[in-house]
Amino acid sequence: MNIATNRLRPLTGAGRRLFIETYGCQMNAGDTEIVVSIMQREGYVYTERIDEADVILINTCSIRDNAEQRIWGRLSEMRRLRRERPGLIVGVIGCMAERLREQLTEGDRGVDVVAGPDAYRDLPRLVRSAEAGAKGVNVLLSQEETYAEIAPVRLDRNGVCAFVSIMRGCNNFCSYCVVPYTRGVERSRDPETIVAEVETLFANGYREVTLLGQNVNSYRFGEVDFPELLRRTASVSPQLRVRFATSHPKDMSDRLLETMASMPNICRAIHLPAQSGASTMLRRMNRKYDREWYLGRIAAIRRYMPDCAITTDLIAGFSGETAEEHEATLSLMREVGYESAFMFKYSERPGTFAQRHMPDDVPDAVKSARLTEIIALQGELSLASNRRDVGREFEVLAESVSHKRDDQLAGRTSQNKVVVFDRRDWRPGDYVRVRITGCTPVTLIGEPIDNR
Ligand code: 5AD
Ligand code: SF4
Repeated sequence: MNIATNRLRPLTGAGRRLFIETYGCQMNAGDTEIVVSIMQREGYVYTERIDEADVILINTCSIRDNAEQRIWGRLSEMRRLRRERPGLIVGVIGCMAERLREQLTEGDRGVDVVAGPDAYRDLPRLVRSAEAGAKGVNVLLSQEETYAEIAPVRLDRNGVCAFVSIMRGCNNFCSYCVVPYTRGVERSRDPETIVAEVETLFANGYREVTLLGQNVNSYRFGEVDFPELLRRTASVSPQLRVRFATSHPKDMSDRLLETMASMPNICRAIHLPAQSGASTMLRRMNRKYDREWYLGRIAAIRRYMPDCAITTDLIAGFSGETAEEHEATLSLMREVGYESAFMFKYSERPGTFAQRHMPDDVPDAVKSARLTEIIALQGELSLASNRRDVGREFEVLAESVSHKRDDQLAGRTSQNKVVVFDRRDWRPGDYVRVRITGCTPVTLIGEPIDNR
């Protein structure tokens, strides 16, 4: 719908207040900003206060069962709110809406609107129909939708770092993963709209963008592939930092590493989910690489960028995991020496290949024990990595006043490590040269070298 037709009829939102609660990954955080933009065009006003909202949307995640359980818990609290405030509209959007549309609308769940990840342009109509007393449901997945021309309303308030969605969906079908079912097929967004969005962000004072997609390395729009998109984005200004997530090891090309190495404002940080260190397990996971390939990619990263931080995702206790396979994950962690990791216990997801064909046969206590070991080892590796940084100098992009002490600023190094340092006259958005003087397992402590 274009703006001209919008003006010919009254806006359906007309000052009504919208509150959105977001769960899950960065893609969801980005989608929430798109939804706010779509709803604002209809006259809705975004509020951060749930108690004054006329419409509450919950942007949901299905990646593990505990994510969904939290949301069911939230929905029962919403039922109480609805009893207190007749006329309140409650909607569930995102992955769980896609996966559980029937359960969400049956009986009295207290859900008026259900919208999947590709149906957000339809939200104003869905909310209107809910206001008229019918449930508003749209979970159609699309082959094309990228919300390319919608300018997200930035909700993160530091005004320095922003996420920019460059593609949606996933075609990889890792056997444990629900994402290809909830977010649909992979599609890339027009690079001109991406670069235009990044230029606007830079002009508005932003100094860091993170290009987001489930598998950014397979980005392609016409002639433009991911290394080319990265080059164009980083060319907006040398004063703009560019990050990206997430990379799939199978598509991590030398051309991408070359592009990164050639532009200092592309950050020295790669998130490269391994999931497991055992080739036998990687085959069962349908990851399309083995341990040797993965280690080859790590060696290539180190060749091109010796100072590059590497982080990962790991799953403990996937179907059939043996003690040796678990040991292989621990040894991979030691061999790579990850800066940090997201670590999960396998959670069987309905409809996935694993749920249909591979029994979830590792006892929960074993999964937990293995996860605990993985977390403990990563704690050691992160601390060792931080200790190596003590005495070194980094350029830190200041992001915000530290939440612990207001005479300190928090920012990040190119390697994506958080540094806390004396504020003096520096402000968020400034680049500050900092010498690291100490560390905890999760934070570096530094002092600015230049005076201001
Ligand atoms: N159980 C546990 N972890 C999962 N992930 C994806 N699916 C599952 C699952 N069923 C993890 C993977 C992925 C991250 C986003 O979530 O490690 O990289
Ligand atoms: Fe899920 Fe694999 Fe796609 Fe990542 S690459 S979203 S783990 S299917």
